[in-house]
Amino acid sequence: MKNLLPTNYQLMKHDRDYEGLELELLIESIYKRYGFDFREYAPASLRRRVLKCVKDEKLNTISGLQELVLHDPACMKRLLRSLTVDVTSMFRDPHFYVAIRKKVLPQFRNYPLIRIWHAGCATGEEVYSLAILLKEEGLYDRALIYATDMNDAVLAEAKEGIYPLNEMRVYSTSYHQAGGREEFSKYYTAKYGHARIATSLQKNIVWAMHNLTTDSSFNEFHLILCRNVMIYFNRSLQDRVHNLLYDSLIFQGVLGLGAKESIHSISHEADYNILDKSGKLYQKLK
Ligand SMILES: C[S@@+](CC[C@H](N)C(=O)[O-])C[C@H]1O[C@@H](n2cnc3c(N)ncnc32)[C@H](O)[C@@H]1O
Repeated sequence: MKNLLPTNYQLMKHDRDYEGLELELLIESIYKRYGFDFREYAPASLRRRVLKCVKDEKLNTISGLQELVLHDPACMKRLLRSLTVDVTSMFRDPHFYVAIRKKVLPQFRNYPLIRIWHAGCATGEEVYSLAILLKEEGLYDRALIYATDMNDAVLAEAKEGIYPLNEMRVYSTSYHQAGGREEFSKYYTAKYGHARIATSLQKNIVWAMHNLTTDSSFNEFHLILCRNVMIYFNRSLQDRVHNLLYDSLIFQGVLGLGAKESIHSISHEADYNILDKSGKLYQKLK
């Protein structure tokens, strides 16, 4: 009888070969069904996270997950949460905030309006940290802060500004390491094991959904923080997002990246001055 199987059948038989194909199909389906574009996320970490979801959903294969995701938006919500990695904290990398306080905020002293964009703000801890700095430097009332993320579930938590009280105790240490001199507890009210961020820190913040892979620039900013977001992207997506951020900065605007990120060898590298090397702060030159 004639062999109808493709010649590469022997190779395809291995589970791992199927897995790559299944992953590709899942990512494509998510894009077509929900519009979330993970096609250029770094493949190794994406695969790890997808396989964890397969396990969490008590499934056996990525194809099983694909079927569930396509038919059940609630499953997509759970998947989105684990694919996007929303780990964050207040005053993360305290020296970053020391550098912001010393090298960036003094430049804003004479501006009548300071526009700031937190791209990929997760549950908001970073946004409130900067709001505290702006308050302490007497700049908050002139600041307009756009805080965006692709995941509306984390944005809803960010907007509420309610965090476990035990975390605030840890953040208090980071706040003081970041140069804070006040009682950290003045920035929240504690109740039933939770801390509610002061409304005076929330009033100038606009929370909105924005996807860095598919949405365009929406304003020009004096300061953009996009920290610990692009580490999950592949090289070409990093370049595209860097172009978007560059186009969204005013002349001499400042870009802040995460500890493991830099502008090294991106197409705009020569268009930035390094304002603080370890703080990953870069100032637009042209
Ligand atoms: C690890 S958190 C970083 C939070 C905060 N910037 C920090 O450094 O602590 C990464 C955030 O980026 C968001 N994110 C991932 N891909 C994104 C995209 N394409 N567009 C917008 N946000 C994205 C995730 O939803 C997540 O909330």
